[in-house]
Amino acid sequence: MPSANLESMDDHATSSEVAEAKQALRVLEDSLRDCSRCGLCKGRSQMVFGAGHPRAQLLFVGEGPGFHEDRQGVPFVGQAGKLLNELLEGIGLTRSDVYIGNVVKCRPPENRDPTPDEIAACSPFLMEQIAIIRPRVVCTLGRFATKLLADTNLSMTAVRGKAKARELAGVDTIVFPVFHPAAALYTPANRRVLVEDFAKLRRLLDRGLEALNPPVSGEGAGDGSGGEKSDDGSGDVGSPNPSGGPRLPVPRTEQLPLW
Ligand code: URA
Repeated sequence: MPSANLESMDDHATSSEVAEAKQALRVLEDSLRDCSRCGLCKGRSQMVFGAGHPRAQLLFVGEGPGFHEDRQGVPFVGQAGKLLNELLEGIGLTRSDVYIGNVVKCRPPENRDPTPDEIAACSPFLMEQIAIIRPRVVCTLGRFATKLLADTNLSMTAVRGKAKARELAGVDTIVFPVFHPAAALYTPANRRVLVEDFAKLRRLLDRGLEALNPPVSGEGAGDGSGGEKSDDGSGDVGSPNPSGGPRLPVPRTEQLPLW
C-alpha cells in the first residue's frame, strides 16, 4: 500500500505551526527530564517522553515504557513496538507520520500496571502533549489509555474498534481504542482483531466522522458520505489518496459505531 502522508492529507498545519509545536514539545520534554512527581522516577533509566510528528493527525497512546523503551528513551521499540510498526505499515503509514506516547512516561518496575496515583501524576503532561499536537484521532492501545482518554470502564472487548468523539485538552478528537499490541504477540486471534481495527482506523483517518455514520445501505447514488464515490469496478468507494496512488478501498455499507 502506498504511504499516505497524514500531514499532506488536509494541510492542517503550516510549516511554521509544525515548527512551533516541535519547539513546544521540546520545552515540555526538557521540563520533565528530572521529574520526581511519582515513585516511578526511582527505578527509571530515563523518562520516555514520546516521539513522532509534532502535529500528527493520529496519536497513539500506550500504557508505559517497558525495558527496551526505558533503555532507549523511545516508546514502543520492543516486541510490541515491532508489531505496531507492522500494523502501521499495513495501513500505509510510518512512525514519522504519527505521534506515539504513553499514559505514564517512566517504566513501572517489572512492567507492572501503573497505579492510579502514577497515572494521576503523569497524565496532565500527556494532556499537554495533546494540546500541542492537536491530533484528529487518538488511538488508545489497551485498557489504561482507553480508560483514561475514552473515560470508560467498559472492557477492551466491548469498546475496541469503536469510535467516541471526545474533547481532550481543548481539542476535538475521535478516540479509537484497540487492543494493546502486546496482547497480540502470542495470540493470533488478537492479532487478527488488531489488523481489522487498524483497517477501520485507516478509514476513520480518510473520512473522519463521515466514516462513522454512513447510510445503512449503499444502493443508488453512492454511500452518501460526501460524494466521493469512485467507480473503479471494485464495488467499493475510496478516499482520494493524497500521495497520488490508488484510492484506498472503503466498504460501502460498513458502520463504525459511536458509543
Ligand atoms: N508498551 C507500552 O504500552 N508502551 C511502550 O512504550 C512500550 C510498550
